[in-house]
Amino acid sequence: MSSAGAGMPSMIDFDRISRDRLPALLRSAPKAELHIHIEGSLEPELIFQLAQRNGVALAYPSVEALRAAYAFTDLQSFLDIYYAGASVLLKEADFFDMAWAYFQRAAADNVVHAELFFDPQTHTARGVDIGTVIRGLHHACQRAHAELGISAALILCFLRHLSEDEALATLDAALPYRHHFIGVGLDSSERGHPPEKFARVFAKARALGLHLVAHAGEEGPPAYIESALDVLQVERIDHGVRCLEDPALVRRLAAARMPLTVCPLSNVKLCVFQDLSQHNLPALLDAGLCAMVNSDDPAYFGGYLNQNLVETFAALPQLGARQAYQLLRNGFEASFVAADKREAWYRMLDAAFAGAVTAG
Ligand code: HPA
Ligand code: ZN
Repeated sequence: MSSAGAGMPSMIDFDRISRDRLPALLRSAPKAELHIHIEGSLEPELIFQLAQRNGVALAYPSVEALRAAYAFTDLQSFLDIYYAGASVLLKEADFFDMAWAYFQRAAADNVVHAELFFDPQTHTARGVDIGTVIRGLHHACQRAHAELGISAALILCFLRHLSEDEALATLDAALPYRHHFIGVGLDSSERGHPPEKFARVFAKARALGLHLVAHAGEEGPPAYIESALDVLQVERIDHGVRCLEDPALVRRLAAARMPLTVCPLSNVKLCVFQDLSQHNLPALLDAGLCAMVNSDDPAYFGGYLNQNLVETFAALPQLGARQAYQLLRNGFEASFVAADKREAWYRMLDAAFAGAVTAG
């Protein structure tokens, strides 16, 4: 079996799924989402609602004015607005409402499993207790499972523009809630903040049995992907699209089936690629990499998971049914779940694609 076709079922004739059926198939197929910052799902309408509820002043007079400010030139220009938007989150109910709104949208997109990033330091810096953050998000995860059938988990991210000592203090503060999150990640401003800056806190998280992921190779160089692997010992790379600049690294990532949680609309909004037709997702798949599509910060970047998938496939004629299957399967392969759960999702995915094959 070639690595480019890892896990492809031989009984599905992908050539008999026509391109015009792809948008509906992408929408209806079961999906995992592994790269979603829950604070990035905060829609302008909810920002204004929470601002009013909590008496927080916003720098923008209206929903329309806020949305109009979503014209980003790079990661930092986005992060400045994203952290300002999160300033309305103060109470447990605010964190619950934000995550519940995401889960309802995810259910509409047929997301069956979601691993949510959250940024506790964005909130503790404003005097919000970390328990308030985690309890609110955890309750939303529980309700998503009970009412929407979505399996959901939390990944605590450290802000890489802050110090490692602050990350260590954050991990310590989160330990009473250890059973409410499955892993740690690394996000925020990438350039100038290499993964190795967080070697000790990731070693500590590893010793605690937490899963490890890190943003690397979004704006930062391929060397950051390497140090995320070598120093932090991560199990997934978030973004990672710049790996293609280093062929030896690509071979290493493919051989290890190291997942890359790619976010196409995000990459265009933050000017990593000029437009979707320039995105390197087809090349990542051709290289045999375990890439999948995610929404990153859907309220800011123009769409949730299905929007990312449908727009990306519309813009890239190299992507057909085979690649659609591979991307969705990779999402399940890369998720932090027990093997029996993953196998059940593979079977659901196979059924969705088998049902789209035209007879004759
Ligand atoms: N990159 C880095 N940090 C982030 C992002 C991102 O795309 N979204 C939210 N925090
Ligand atoms: Zn991200």
